[in-house]
Amino acid sequence: MIRLTKFGEKLCRESALYEMMDDLGAGSDAGHPRVAMMGGGNPAAIPGIEAVWRTRMQEIMNDGERFERMLGAYDSPQGNREFLEILADYFNRECGWNLTYRNIVITNGSQNAFFFLFNMLAGECPDGKKRRVLFPLCPEYIGYADQGLEPDLFTARLPLVRETGPHAFRYEPDFAGMNIGDDIGLVCLSRPTNPTGLVLSRAEVTRLDRMAAARGIPLLVDAAYGAPFPGIVFADGGIDWSENLILTWSLSKIGLPAVRTGIVVASEEMIHKLATVNAVISLATSGIGQTLVAPLFADGRITRMADETVRPFYRKKRDEFILELARAFGDAGVDWRLHECEGGFFVWLWFPGLREPATAVYRAAKARGVFVTAGEAFFTGPDQAELAGWPHHRQCLRLNYADTEGDIPRGLAILAEEIARRQG
Ligand SMILES: Cc1ncc(COP(=O)(O)O)c(C=O)c1O
Repeated sequence: MIRLTKFGEKLCRESALYEMMDDLGAGSDAGHPRVAMMGGGNPAAIPGIEAVWRTRMQEIMNDGERFERMLGAYDSPQGNREFLEILADYFNRECGWNLTYRNIVITNGSQNAFFFLFNMLAGECPDGKKRRVLFPLCPEYIGYADQGLEPDLFTARLPLVRETGPHAFRYEPDFAGMNIGDDIGLVCLSRPTNPTGLVLSRAEVTRLDRMAAARGIPLLVDAAYGAPFPGIVFADGGIDWSENLILTWSLSKIGLPAVRTGIVVASEEMIHKLATVNAVISLATSGIGQTLVAPLFADGRITRMADETVRPFYRKKRDEFILELARAFGDAGVDWRLHECEGGFFVWLWFPGLREPATAVYRAAKARGVFVTAGEAFFTGPDQAELAGWPHHRQCLRLNYADTEGDIPRGLAILAEEIARRQG
């Protein structure tokens, strides 16, 4: 029996995130029935993109020095200086900003950066106050949920729901109900949002940033699927720079989740602090991803890959998936609504009148080899009484639309049966 601390207990508890990542493994386990994997978040294998990584790796192998340096040296905890300079130039060209290498830090995946930021900026402060991370529009990314070292680190606003068509809706931020007070240390959102596919407009982001800045609180915008790369965004994913912003990107969704490379852009002061934390937790960041992609950022090829290959690939997948989904739900008589999918590789579905929680649908579908993610897990932070009075949060599922292997029509037919059985 291992005796754990509170910290240990918190991190060792099997979370919804753990179950989702475990499903990813089970989905490919030979002993497990697998009809369709529409659960977790592996990026799709896109042949034109995989070929670029292969070529780059060969170039590195053929370069007498690079290969050895890539594997044999610790970089500074801020990241590789040459890569940081390349990135600053890249963002300045693509986004019209005015960054230097001092505005960027590389972490071992953006997930790591969130852990640093949440616990640096929220929790018990030296002035005795407890500050929290505010999700201004919940549901939000499941990977944030268990990252707080102190209990109750998160608070969130539920969205306004606007029905935009017979089977379509979208969430909107509840600006009127949003109070960014002294009890908040960081405001955080993903854009495109995982799970919903929402892309908050530039104006909405700027409005939130100004509201936060007025209280001296940074706004973190997680662009893991965003612009200018990996470019899995079907709306304007651009953003107007301000010193109050903390922006994160990742090499994962363009096809390199295994190199664990996250990119953070922020004020020089924030970057210096993050580099210091990175030294304590990781010593340095892996150089493999940085070495692999550096020339692609230097000549802008990464944006062309995003625009010409990655986005068209996902757009086509999304459109085909939605057609299949409408057919399967129509055949089974399911009452369904789709959140307008403006980015990311998930669709977010709402089933009004679902009598059992979405988790029951998830379990029943999983038993028949169909993997999806139940919506409840994405509601971290809202007031519990408010949430309990809003059945909507138990009536949603997130589906990965980009699986290239499973039998999607059959998977959706099975899912539709399980929903219809519990609806009406
Ligand atoms: C919204 C969002 N942000 C960040 C991440 C994590 O990315 P990384 O692999 O860089 O840790 C994910 C992964 O699914 C994500 O969906």
